[in-house]
Amino acid sequence: MSDSTTAFELILFGAAGDLSLRKLIPSLYCLHLDQRIHPEGRIIAVARRNYEREDFLKVVKKALIKHLNVDLFDEETWNSFAKRLSYAQMDITDPASYDTTLKHYLNRPDTPKVFYLATHSDMYGVICQHLYSHQMLRGEARVVLEKPIGMDYQSAVEVCKEVDKYCNEEQIYRIDHYLGKETVQNLLALRFANSIFEHQWNQRYIDHIQITIAETLGVEQRAGFYEAAGAMRDMMQNHLLQLLCMVAMEPPAQLNAESIRDEKVKVLKALKPITGELINANVVRGQYQEGSLNGQPTPAYREEPGVNPHSDTETFVSMKVEIDNWRWAGTPFYLRTGKRLPDRACEIVIQFKEVPHSVFELQHPASMANKLIFRLQPDDGIKLQLCEKRVGKGMSVKPVLLNLTAEHARKDRVPDAYERLLSDAIEGNPTLFLREDELLTAWQWIDPILKAWEHSGSRPEFYHGGIWGPAASTLLLARDGRLWQENH
Ligand code: BG6
Repeated sequence: MSDSTTAFELILFGAAGDLSLRKLIPSLYCLHLDQRIHPEGRIIAVARRNYEREDFLKVVKKALIKHLNVDLFDEETWNSFAKRLSYAQMDITDPASYDTTLKHYLNRPDTPKVFYLATHSDMYGVICQHLYSHQMLRGEARVVLEKPIGMDYQSAVEVCKEVDKYCNEEQIYRIDHYLGKETVQNLLALRFANSIFEHQWNQRYIDHIQITIAETLGVEQRAGFYEAAGAMRDMMQNHLLQLLCMVAMEPPAQLNAESIRDEKVKVLKALKPITGELINANVVRGQYQEGSLNGQPTPAYREEPGVNPHSDTETFVSMKVEIDNWRWAGTPFYLRTGKRLPDRACEIVIQFKEVPHSVFELQHPASMANKLIFRLQPDDGIKLQLCEKRVGKGMSVKPVLLNLTAEHARKDRVPDAYERLLSDAIEGNPTLFLREDELLTAWQWIDPILKAWEHSGSRPEFYHGGIWGPAASTLLLARDGRLWQENH
């Protein structure tokens, strides 16, 4: 039985690209498998490549087999899913092709349309212009915009201005797939459905917070995009700042899109600016060199296909961020992301303060302090570190990790973030998407750092593939008498 009541036409621009084949189409397949989309939902894949529908289906099938868990793919489901898929070969910059090609596929005037733009953000304005002038944005039409939107504050403003000419804010769904991750929503539940943590959720009880998104992968086949983006634009400006907002925001008055977005914008506006001298002191950038992961040698970033052999693009960033408000003054947030790190892991660690006076004999009081750990991937879940007595004689204590994730939840398949967000976009629920002011405020805060890097001629520090980034990143915390979580 379907839990979706909405028939839809989802028009996927950039359908032959990496994101579509790796994440978007596999997520649509899973929604189909679990009967979470309406039987009348149609997917129109749009790309420039000259495929016949049958050729495109072969490419999709191969991608599903590669990217889905083996137990999720089967021929019968594939055959029924494939019936939803059409392929529209067109040049998205050519206005005529919207008439001659795209219109031909959109033959159900009363069915809500979801235009998913998985292209470079430079294209968003022109696509919206053509959709608008061909009357395709009427009625219940929504436009989903992939990140990054713009490459700095000014270009983001320009993309927004262009899109705003043709769409209302309510029609625009700016995606950050980290907000679709199950544990991120669980973080909201833990904070706002329980009273026990909220009293402690501030600078009086929390020593500091760490947010890490670590990847073992390198740049893969995405050098064309990544060379111009780097870790700051690709991950920090969006995913890490969004996670920070979820941890730091005040309780919203209601659990709806506007209330949540209002609270997130307040956090972004309260971020202490990092400019001038503070940049070197508080931000570390690195680039991976050759190294080894799981016993296998890994190439340097500069040797990856499509990368300039003298590239100064950062593949790692860590930073110390402060929030100038009553709740968080004096409690730093340490953010870190990088490629070719030792583990694929995404974690938010809330490190509580030590007890004011310890009566136990402890060798490392800091490592005994309570921690609340939100693990987004792999092995999603929430853990709480408490201290307990060692069994036996004497009265020494040791840390113990309690799993706060219910047993049944651990057995269920955790849907991919894109499954949740695609179904929200189809259903018209914007809660987990970004508002324009949120996007621009985040860019405004990051911009001085990007500009300073550009103008100073400084370069990223090298780190070997398979370690936790450059030495300066360890020092960033060591200077404050702290350690990154996995160094404990
Ligand atoms: C994307 C970035 O937004 O997030 C990629 O562009 C990165 O560079 C990816 O690999 C990580 O997402 P996830 O969900 O696999 O952690």
